[in-house]
Amino acid sequence: MRVAVGVTGGVAAYKAAELVRLLQQEGLEVEVAMTRAAREFVTPLTFAALTGRKVITEMFGAENAAPANVENAIEHIAVAQRIDALVIAPATADFLARMANGLADDFLSTLVLATKAPVIVAPAMNVNMWEHAATQENLGRLRARGVRVVEPGEGYLACGMTGAGRLAEIEGIARAVCETLGLKHDLAGETLLITAGPTREEVDPVRYLTNRSSGKMGYALAEAALRRGARVILVSGPVALAPPEKVEFVPVRTAEEMRKAMFEQLPQATVVLMAAAVADYRPANPAVQKIKRGTGPLTLELAPTPDILAEVATQKGSRTLVGFAAETTDLAENARGKLLRKGADLLVANDVTQQGAGFDVDTNIVTLLRRDGSQLELPKMTKQDLASRILDEVAALRGTAGRDRSR
Ligand code: CTP
Repeated sequence: MRVAVGVTGGVAAYKAAELVRLLQQEGLEVEVAMTRAAREFVTPLTFAALTGRKVITEMFGAENAAPANVENAIEHIAVAQRIDALVIAPATADFLARMANGLADDFLSTLVLATKAPVIVAPAMNVNMWEHAATQENLGRLRARGVRVVEPGEGYLACGMTGAGRLAEIEGIARAVCETLGLKHDLAGETLLITAGPTREEVDPVRYLTNRSSGKMGYALAEAALRRGARVILVSGPVALAPPEKVEFVPVRTAEEMRKAMFEQLPQATVVLMAAAVADYRPANPAVQKIKRGTGPLTLELAPTPDILAEVATQKGSRTLVGFAAETTDLAENARGKLLRKGADLLVANDVTQQGAGFDVDTNIVTLLRRDGSQLELPKMTKQDLASRILDEVAALRGTAGRDRSR
């Protein structure tokens, strides 16, 4: 989902940078538009660096730009159409007055008129300006049009006075945006233990056996679960991805290390999602020294690794257990067998031979198999969308769907 943050010219303009960060942590795409006055307080570069996008400042491009910048002139329509919400923080008394009167004399005010997305304003100003009948009337008109107002707080103001007019807490503004977008917090109170990535099984000090798992599915689950209010413990094999910021991260290498980490963390978990591609076999006797080149064939003896999912299932208790299955033939039949054999509540099965499914790609095509015998074939979707879909199932199994336990 995309949100535009509009910044207008007040001392609190610098706090909009923190708002951008919080919204990004909710998984939202953020773009920023600034009024001319806002640029007296903070430079667009701050926001450009945070969002990795151009900050929209001018309606018609830079002054004296020639030829006229047509792209900028029509940009407000494009932005207006692509956003799911517009939040203006801080919103000055002047900007609220312009909004109330439907003026459209700069980029941001034009965006307000051009978008059909919900608008949220977080006013910030001097206490007398806040209490002024004109400001209160303007706010009344905006509320009547469906604009959501995040009321300012009371306290010491930059102008030296004390009273109402201080920009609301940034967390509160971010929460108002999330509520407006209908973002769920239905996994609050749950602790999700998630495995991701491949394992590496040592052959000798310089070689190992592994598989093509990138960790993308497990990491997408971790990110989506955090956004939905869960506590997340991520047990990950070696991958090239950075763990999400608020996750409790447990890096492991081998199947045996993963097993140990899982049993250490299990007592805290209410939900276990095993997206890792755990090696089924490891070299039985890893060489202590590097194996030298020979002239004849070399035989490696392999020993089975523990089936972590099946072992976790023996200590399942009231936990919800989700397994993954990578298949190359007879998907439904094999996966149904795995679900029952491993004692999972839900199995996410994918045929890794299909294009756009399985290892090391950004999309997946899966069938969800439930314990009650029902199953759901999902179309090709990104691993992010699939993560949300899987967590919908988890929330339903936990009996938390549709309920927001964080508020
Ligand atoms: N799994 C596990 N421990 C293993 C192997 C797999 O916990 N040693 C878990 C995976 O994380 C996954 C599920 O079991 O959630 C199924 O993995 P998959 O490789 O499809 O199944 P296998 O049991 O390895 O069966 P096979 O390779 O014969 O298809």
